[in-house]
Amino acid sequence: MSRLVVISNRLPFSLRRGEQPGEYELIPSSGGLVSALSSYIERRRKEEPDFECVWMGWPGAAVEPEHQANVRERAMREHGAYPVYLDESETDAFYHGFCNSTLWPIFHYFPSYAQYSEEQWQTYQRVNQTFCSAAMDLIRPGDVIWVHDYQLLLLPKLLRDGGINERLGFFLHVPFPSYEVFRLLPTRWRRELLEGMLGADLVGFHTHDYTQYFLRSVYRTLGHEHQFGEIAMGAELRRAETFPIGIDFERFMQAASSPAVTALVEQIERGLQGRRAIFSVDRLDYSKGLLHRLRGFETFLQTHPEERGRVVFILVVVPSRAEVTHYRRMKHELDELVGQINGAYGSVDWVPILYQYRSLDFEELVALYRLAPIALITPLRDGMNLVAKEYLASKPDGTGVLILSEMAGAARELGEALLINPNHRQEIAEALHEAVRLDPEEQVRRNRPMQERLQRYDARRWVTNFLDSLERVRGRQGRLATHHLAGAMRKALLDRYRAARRRLVLLDYDGTLVPFAARPELANPDAALLELIARLAGDPHNRVFIISGRDRHTLERWFAGVPLALIAEHGAWLKDRGRDWSQLKPLTSEWKEHLAPLLQLYVDRVPGSLLEQKDHSLAWHYRRADPELGAGRAKELMDELVGYTANFDVQVLEGKKVVEVRNAGVNKGAAALACLSLVEPDFVLAAGDDQTDEDLFRALPRSAYTVRVGIPHSHAAYHLKDHLEVRALLAALGAAGEGTG
Ligand code: UDP
Ligand code: G6P
Repeated sequence: MSRLVVISNRLPFSLRRGEQPGEYELIPSSGGLVSALSSYIERRRKEEPDFECVWMGWPGAAVEPEHQANVRERAMREHGAYPVYLDESETDAFYHGFCNSTLWPIFHYFPSYAQYSEEQWQTYQRVNQTFCSAAMDLIRPGDVIWVHDYQLLLLPKLLRDGGINERLGFFLHVPFPSYEVFRLLPTRWRRELLEGMLGADLVGFHTHDYTQYFLRSVYRTLGHEHQFGEIAMGAELRRAETFPIGIDFERFMQAASSPAVTALVEQIERGLQGRRAIFSVDRLDYSKGLLHRLRGFETFLQTHPEERGRVVFILVVVPSRAEVTHYRRMKHELDELVGQINGAYGSVDWVPILYQYRSLDFEELVALYRLAPIALITPLRDGMNLVAKEYLASKPDGTGVLILSEMAGAARELGEALLINPNHRQEIAEALHEAVRLDPEEQVRRNRPMQERLQRYDARRWVTNFLDSLERVRGRQGRLATHHLAGAMRKALLDRYRAARRRLVLLDYDGTLVPFAARPELANPDAALLELIARLAGDPHNRVFIISGRDRHTLERWFAGVPLALIAEHGAWLKDRGRDWSQLKPLTSEWKEHLAPLLQLYVDRVPGSLLEQKDHSLAWHYRRADPELGAGRAKELMDELVGYTANFDVQVLEGKKVVEVRNAGVNKGAAALACLSLVEPDFVLAAGDDQTDEDLFRALPRSAYTVRVGIPHSHAAYHLKDHLEVRALLAALGAAGEGTG
């Protein structure tokens, strides 16, 4: 079994300095990342003695150099953890600074709280490098490395650059924001952050939206396209995928019925004197919507005076990031608001809000979950929110009402909860009102399916799914890795070519035989190319096809007099030697008049872009436009066009700097099959440089020589660097064919 190396900023424990120098207490850390991972790791360590795992991270406080070895030894012994030390100024600029005053607010849609400090950015880079150096000392061949969260976005790439070639995954525990928000980060930073994450083979997110936003940002910022989450980055293949994090369901369920928790529940209930508890627990964080929650509760008391004295709000706030200005400010506001509501509505024998600013131990936490008939969880943004899941897992009898913000990732899986928009205090008040009235049978009816889901998709399943997918990506990288068509392989190809009598050669045009030109019409074939093709096509044993996305008139004009066959518009049209054009499949194109005006609008909006009209397709080219603007508008256009595919029998494709709409069912793969049946070849060579050629490679038999031009990851078996290498190969074929008569 491979060893698992987990790397996160936060370790499962944090150091608190003792009285004496060098004396430290190890206290449990708070937050969802630590809860989910540590319960998983602890359980596996208990159940499988040969499970090996090291957790690397920052221990939460600066340690003097003379005590570092001791602390490390203790951390390893007690927690299997490997601390990475940061000094106080680094902690300040990295943790309080770039992590929690730039990335956290941006990723949680609080752009007005974000700072943009070049010095903090540089410290962020340096600290990621410090983690990298520490990891390089620790990592052994065969390890599986799993980097976590927004504090270490640069680390995966640093590890790769450092020569680490092991399986490497990354998971983001916070939301990935939409591109409009992400782009608030300066260009250089956002490029580096995305490149950093893409050092990992697999990048995981909690929800489908976050994954899509990430993919879109990658496309708009770095220009890498993806297909169903698979990203082709030059020579590399990466994957982005959704893995909603789970909790250790059994642990909560069992604890909730344990004698210790039951005793605690009874004790707390005595104090409540029959009042109904509304419960919430969060780290102190502006993203958690604590003030909104209190205002909602206040509105509830205002609009439902009959509930005064009958409910108690147990508000537990766990101290967090207290050095950061906006957190400090919020703490003051929170203290004030609690005082204000308690003052306005409380009485001598009733305090509406029982407010505690501290952390809870596990049993207290489960006791509060179990006894509270209502949980009120109202984040303004939250990557997932595990508290919501834990509340449901701590209800053995299935009762309880979960009121949950729709802005939490967890809302995607917990649709039976009362979902609210936390920005609207009346909505919170109404949900509370509904919650106090919901009869227990209805509560159970809503909760059981959620509980079953949580039990199935628990923390263990989350880890397993992620690691299995990581394995699969590595497998795909292996399968899609192509060989450079050179040396012995090239020689073998030439030998087979010489021996063959019915050869089929399928050649894409742009990017394969000629380089890209600024305007499509400027890429006409030069004399050398025409001569090369003519020589090849003139061989009586050869059937040569140009198989292109170009329109038929252009191809015909360019190759007039060359004895080859032409396939235009990605397979809509075929012109065999000495024949006229025919359609490979009957097509309609009345959709063009509906869509042309939309594409024309994009031509007007993006200077330098142009619309190409073909018989059965429309193509919007933006090669000459500003790259950022062009790529951005291309995405918008794709979004708009996808809406039309329901009404018309068309497909929308993204090529190199082009968005194309064409009849469905037309592709180079289908065209290749037609060529195969026409020629019945004993030798096949196909070369192409873009996504549309992948259809071609997939359709051909395994015995075919398939060649992707430009990048080495493809369904093709081989690759060549550029059109010059393709031409050299064709010249060699031409020479090899001579004398084979
Ligand atoms: N939690 C904690 N200390 C406490 C109370 C709760 O660590 O005193 C745990 C809680 O059980 C949950 C996690 O903190 O697992 C909070 O995770 P969540 O995803 O809700 O929010 P995050 O803090 O990660 O933003
Ligand atoms: C969130 C973040 C984690 C972080 C946790 C606690 O869950 O996603 O990365 O560890 O909050 O925050 P802290 O700053 O104390 O590590």
